[in-house]
This record gives sequence, C-alpha cells and structure tokens, in this order.
Amino acid sequence: MTQKVQIIIDGKTSELPVLQATMGLNVVDVRGLISEGIFTYDPGFLSTASCDSSITFIDGEAGVLLYRGYPIEQLAAQSSHLEVCYLLLNGELPTAAEFAGFEQEIKERMFIDEELQHIFDGFNSQSHPMSMTCASVAALASCYHEGFDIYNAVQRKEAAFNLIAKIPTIAAMTYKKSIGEDFVPPNPDLNYAENFLNMCFGKKGAPAKVSPTLAKAMDRIFILHADHEQNASTSTVRLAGSTETNPYAAISAGIAALWGPSHGGANEAVLDMLTEIGHESRIEQYVAKAKDPNDSFRLMGFGHRVYKNFDPRATVMQESCNAVLSELGLDDPLLKVAQKLETIAREQDYFIERKLYPNVDFYSGITFKAVGIPVKMFTVLFALGRMPGWLTHWDEMLSNGFKIGRPRQLYLGPVARDYVDMDKR
Ligand code: CMC
Repeated sequence: MTQKVQIIIDGKTSELPVLQATMGLNVVDVRGLISEGIFTYDPGFLSTASCDSSITFIDGEAGVLLYRGYPIEQLAAQSSHLEVCYLLLNGELPTAAEFAGFEQEIKERMFIDEELQHIFDGFNSQSHPMSMTCASVAALASCYHEGFDIYNAVQRKEAAFNLIAKIPTIAAMTYKKSIGEDFVPPNPDLNYAENFLNMCFGKKGAPAKVSPTLAKAMDRIFILHADHEQNASTSTVRLAGSTETNPYAAISAGIAALWGPSHGGANEAVLDMLTEIGHESRIEQYVAKAKDPNDSFRLMGFGHRVYKNFDPRATVMQESCNAVLSELGLDDPLLKVAQKLETIAREQDYFIERKLYPNVDFYSGITFKAVGIPVKMFTVLFALGRMPGWLTHWDEMLSNGFKIGRPRQLYLGPVARDYVDMDKR
C-alpha cells in the first residue's frame, strides 16, 4: 500500500511520499520540501536516513544484525573474516572456487612498498597507532591516485582488494613501531588472522607460535566489526567519497572518525576505565558518577544509538572473551570488574530506563588485552575489521548514483548588519 505523509505549512497541505524498506522502518522522502521553502532539522541524524543501502540491516529493539541478510551469530560461528569481506563486497557468499580466487587476490596485495614504509620514520614509539594508521592509509593515495577512475567498477574493486589486504600489514607496522621492533613482512601461507598475529608477535626469521584458538577469536572479532550500516565512520566515508575524492583519502577520513571514544575509540576507553576502577569495591562510585547529570563521565562500552535491548555483537564477543581467557589460563581481575559492573548497571533504573546495555566494545578490550595487544592498538583492530564495510558502502554509493553530501542548517547567528570601522567600535 502506498503511504504518504501530509504536512501543513502556513495552511497549505503538501504530500510527501513514503519509501518502502524491505525490512525495518519506511522513510518519508523529504527531498521535495525545499520547494516549499523549508528545511528539515535533525542534528545527529536521530530520525534521518542519509541514503538507501542493501548491505547491512539492524533491528535495534530486537538485537538483530544481518550482513547481506545473514545473521551475525551464524557468520561469527561458521564463516571467516575473508569470506565475510567477499560477502559484503559482492552481496553473496562465495563458492569454494570464488573464495580461493579472492583469497589469492588478497594475499598478492598484502605487502607495503618499501618506500612507503618510510612514512613510519616520521613517527616514534609514543605516536598513537590510530594516527599512524590514518596517515599510512592516506599515504597510499599517493601511490594510487593518478589515473584512478572512481566510476570504473574494476578500479574500485582493485582499491577494495588493496585496502583489505594491506590494513593488517599497516596495523601490525603501527604495533612494531610502538615497541621499537623491525617490521615482519606478511606471510601468504598463513590465513588472514594468523598472518596479522604473526606480523605483530613474530620476529624477522622467527615466526610467532600462533594458537589456533587465538587466531579464531581474532578472526571472529574482525567479523563482528566488519560492517554496521550508517554509523559515524561509514557516514564519513560516504560523505568524503561523495566529493569524488580518492578512496584511500575517504577511508582515511573514516578511520579518523572511528577514533573518537563515542565510536570505535570506546574499546580503548573501556580498558582505561576498567583499569581506573581497578577493583570491584570501587564500582558503585563510578556507577554513581555515570548517573550524575552534572558529571560528564559515562560508562564506556555501554549504550548505543540503535541497539535498545542488547547488542548481538556483545553476546558473541563475551563468548570469544571467555574462550581466549580459558585457552590462556588467565584469570584477569579486570574481567571480574567488568562482569560486576555489567550486573550492577543492568539492575539500576537509570540504565534500564535509558536502555543502556553493554555494546561490542565492552568485552573486546579484555579479549585484546589477553591476546597481548596494547590498549592503544585496540581501535586499530576495529578499523582493520571495519575496512570491508567502509569499502562496500563507498562502492555502493558510487554504483548507485549520488549527490555530494551537503547538509543545510538552522541559522541562529546575527542578522545582516553593517561593518563598523575599528576606531568606531
Ligand atoms: N553511561 C551513562 N549514561 C549514558 C551512557 C553511558 N555510557 N550512554 C548514554 N547515557 C545517557 C545519556 O546521558 C542520556 O541521559 P539523559 O537522557 O538523562 O540525558 C541518555 O543516556 C541518552 O544518551 P545519548 O547521548 O542521547 O545517546 P546517543 O544515542 O546520542 O549516544 C552513545 C550513543 C554510544 C554515543 C552513548 O551511549 C555513549 O556515549 N556510550 C559510551 C561510549 C561507547 O561505548 N561507544 C561505543 C558504541 S558501540 C561501538 C560503535 O558502533 O561505535
């Protein structure tokens, strides 16, 4: 049934079409409103769909997350990150032959040019790995700019293969730089997650002993982060990409947006918070701070703009966290603080009324810490996982036709006035 929304402006009724979604909420098409001399107002995009998309679906009330229609729980249990990359980019799961071909394409592109590696000479052990990641990805634009045609689907695919292949190498290089060790080159004989762990924990000529359980857990974490529809970093990639900029530059903008603690940077912030709390006896004090309207402190790893029941990624993440801790025989006291904090927060009206539940970042930090990843690296791992999502959204936008992203505003500044000479002010 065709739906319409009526809007009355100064007594004149206009009809706005309602566009039908295959699942989830339909949207009112307000594009024609400008001809009525009025804008819509929605800071933070609380009620606004910025585009149409066929990639990822979230039902925040039901705690559902689907990549191309497939539930995240099934993909996390049965798939691999590279297969999910293929699924996101192509819309369908690969056959065995298609997957083998895709894996080969990725393995061939994992190396970073020797010259480009010198970009790391400008950093030191104190440089934040997110800053190094952002800069290195932007630097790739210098190698793949001349002659790059964003309207050519083959060239777009080449950029996607290149970035999915190179991001683990870049991520491991930021780690090696921060601990002052030589880079370890990629090893095409290893799978995606094993290769990343080997580049982090191996040494030149001395490969790391990568536990299959840890590699599997790392791969699942990448799957959990692979896409999340129109989140802040993906929207940034789309907005930057809508100016027809180079894809490496657009992705670098997405990485910058991811860094903030309200988004991907929350995983680092969670660990910092748990460390600051330190002991179960201090939890109540921090919960009280989080509830205090006069205190800007928030429980990091809690809450989500879309999930208002539970974050399905957090459930899988908690399982992975337990698997890693038991494989390593670790009894991390911070896990106890996290579990107690979750229990207390879940019982209190403040969190129940506002539908604040642990999100994906709540348990990922503890898992990364157990694997031996330094806290400052956590958000880089989120970026590594999110790479196929950013690229697929960028590709979808360019394939479907788009306009430059150019929001309007509600102007509240001074009305027009005349310039006053300095000696008369
Ligand atoms: N701790 C305490 N109070 C909170 C929290 C929190 N973590 N999150 C939201 N609130 C309160 C907030 O103060 C507000 O209360 P009131 O109505 O009394 O003013 C109410 O809940 C609604 O908050 P909001 O800021 O309007 O919600 P939002 O949808 O704009 O923000 C969020 C979502 C994720 C930025 C926010 O929940 C937050 O800052 N969480 C902590 C950071 C975090 O864990 N981020 C990772 C998100 S998941 C990974 C990803 O996809 O990026």
